[in-house]
Amino acid sequence: MNDTRDAVEEEQPVGELTTRTMAMPADTNASGDIFGGWVVSQMDIAAGIAASQCAMERVVTVAIDSMTFIRPVKVGDVMCVYSRVLRVGRTSITLAIEAWALRHRFGYREKVTNAQFTFVAVDDNGKPIEISEEQRAKYNNA
Ligand SMILES: CC(C)(COP(=O)(O)OP(=O)(O)OC[C@H]1O[C@@H](n2cnc3c(N)ncnc32)[C@H](O)[C@@H]1OP(=O)(O)O)[C@@H](O)C(=O)NCCC(=O)NCCS
Repeated sequence: MNDTRDAVEEEQPVGELTTRTMAMPADTNASGDIFGGWVVSQMDIAAGIAASQCAMERVVTVAIDSMTFIRPVKVGDVMCVYSRVLRVGRTSITLAIEAWALRHRFGYREKVTNAQFTFVAVDDNGKPIEISEEQRAKYNNA
């Protein structure tokens, strides 16, 4: 095993495992790697699940910040997305999201992206609504 692999294996995902999806040939770009847009959409799905569980309301994505693509994702990799709530505001939830690729055939995982996602809790008309004090306290004091 080489030094790079050792270093990669020392880093651990931060947050809760929220989704797992296999990268398929239909998700590739012209170079044969997985599209960045597909990876971002997987992160958005996971972040949305975690944000709606936190708010206990319908949520919409309002911002994606500090998106970093660290390594490529390959066909057959299992994309594991981890989420952690950073803070809950009056109507918004900000989360740290990490995607890790479980490398097909090699049996090890590497962090491939990270970003900060912000969601807003909305009503049926798409207007921001307050997150309950109970939920805010639960996450902000955790
Ligand atoms: C999300 C949306 C409902 C917010 O409406 P708005 O009238 O701008 O809301 P507000 O200005 O009252 O802001 C609501 C919250 O979002 C936060 N917010 C707004 N823009 C933000 C940004 N760019 N980054 C981080 N937080 C942001 C505000 O700080 C506020 O948080 P708080 O209540 O916890 O303090 C509206 O912008 C929208 O519908 N956007 C499209 C969402 C969507 O369709 N997403 C899917 C992707 S296509």
